[in-house]
Amino acid sequence: MKINLLCRQNSIVSHYVAELRDVEIQKERLRFRKNLERIGELAAYEISKLLHYNETQVTTPLGIAPSKMLRQDDIVVASILRAALPMHNGVLNIFDHAENCFVSAYRKSGKDNKFTIAFGYISSPPIEGKTVVLCDPMLATGSSMMVAYNALLERGVPQATHIVSVIASRDGVEYLKKHLPPEHNVTLWVCAVDDELTAKSYIVPGLGDAGDLAYGEKV
Ligand code: URA
Repeated sequence: MKINLLCRQNSIVSHYVAELRDVEIQKERLRFRKNLERIGELAAYEISKLLHYNETQVTTPLGIAPSKMLRQDDIVVASILRAALPMHNGVLNIFDHAENCFVSAYRKSGKDNKFTIAFGYISSPPIEGKTVVLCDPMLATGSSMMVAYNALLERGVPQATHIVSVIASRDGVEYLKKHLPPEHNVTLWVCAVDDELTAKSYIVPGLGDAGDLAYGEKV
């Protein structure tokens, strides 16, 4: 797995991440969702540099312009419900002809703060040979990401997968490195990698529960 840090250089991405983490600013749900969406857009822009383009000629009102147009038809934007939805919209703002996939996976509590990841359902087009952009803002243990990736594989093997997260834990990154098939072409795009996980597997300093901050608390 290749890893690209979206905040390696100073850019507006760092500002959006700081706002997402800020306990005061994050009280404003609309802004929280908007910042996730904007990071989805900026990550998609970076990913777009690695995609394939067709040379074409475009007729302008004044002549013919040699142009390049993205081959959009093989992109699938995939998201793990529900926290990834704003990022999903952001990626889709850039790759507007992309197909869409949704995976529901959630933490099922067990004893001693332990949990397993329960897979709910997948709604997906065929994946074989396509380019998948798989969003989840928080890569904590990495286990829901692996559940989602394995669910995608039931629909075919992508030719490339771009995992987009805002904050990962070191453990989460190591988990993906260990469990993703080494022969698969997977790149992780992440803004920050934090050192710690709590006993309940929340990222520290992280930002809290991204799904709750975007859409409200659940029972
Ligand atoms: N999911 C979240 O929303 N936050 C975390 O810190 C970990 C998982």
